[in-house]
Amino acid sequence: MASRRASVVWRKIGLVLFILCSAALTMSAAGSHSAEGFLIIAHRGASGYAPENTMAAFELAERMGADFIEFDVQMSKDGELVVIHDVTVDRTTAFTGNVSRYTLSELQGMDAGSYSHADYADETILSFQEVMSRFAGKIGLLIEIKEPSLYPGIEEKVADAVRRYGQGLQVAGLRDTDRLQRMANIENSPAIIIQSFDRVSIRRMHALLPEIPVAVLVHKDQHPLPAGTLDELASYSSYINYSHDLLDGELVREIHKRNRKVMAWTVRNERDMERMKKLGVDGIITDFPG
Ligand code: G3P
Ligand code: CA
Repeated sequence: MASRRASVVWRKIGLVLFILCSAALTMSAAGSHSAEGFLIIAHRGASGYAPENTMAAFELAERMGADFIEFDVQMSKDGELVVIHDVTVDRTTAFTGNVSRYTLSELQGMDAGSYSHADYADETILSFQEVMSRFAGKIGLLIEIKEPSLYPGIEEKVADAVRRYGQGLQVAGLRDTDRLQRMANIENSPAIIIQSFDRVSIRRMHALLPEIPVAVLVHKDQHPLPAGTLDELASYSSYINYSHDLLDGELVREIHKRNRKVMAWTVRNERDMERMKKLGVDGIITDFPG
């Protein structure tokens, strides 16, 4: 019994040390990346170290010095915005079924951490409001609207929350902290970006919030896009974002030629990180923000 307790303690100490070492290494790396002119975006938070889309993953990304956190937004049965990647709760909780089958309070009661590690059993599914109120103005927010066709009216709800929590961020917030000051030094770097694979939804977001930059995610099945489609996307989207393996120098140049930016997802190793840096992308979306 005593030896089992000791092993649990050592496991916890090991986990904390691992996170602290990673954070120390990452902070300097993320800082220098930003200085080089591109943003580091923590994909679903620092999801390589902590359960995705949870407070633990977002706070760790913040401590690691990421410029942005990326997270996924869907809608509950009672019409509230919630932060979860999959359309169902199956993979990240002990429950089953569609997100839209559960109310906000039911979702907030679900353990969304144990699937990753027992030490994260206190992490729950978050509301969009919780994430906005905790992080808006503290770190950049890359908000992905997930499967919007399943959730009529989701764009208006996202716009309302962004108006409520994001008001004045691009001016006032950027002066508030070192991190956001650093981001301000990257030309036109905003504090909030909204993205989706769904172009109809992104056009709607752009119409609702013309001052907030939007990004279109290009699915691998749509690649390569005809030049005319790239022109059309560039007419409303500030960013055209790709899976890193689809990007090459020519595509990055085509996007930059249209005066638009490009972010690459999901970078999980140093080799891909270096390749993206060489290509000159404007943002690197990574599970390991550093
Ligand atoms: O930010 C891009 C990336 O998040 C898109 O893929 O499946 O991780 O949401 P996914
Ligand atoms: Ca996402």
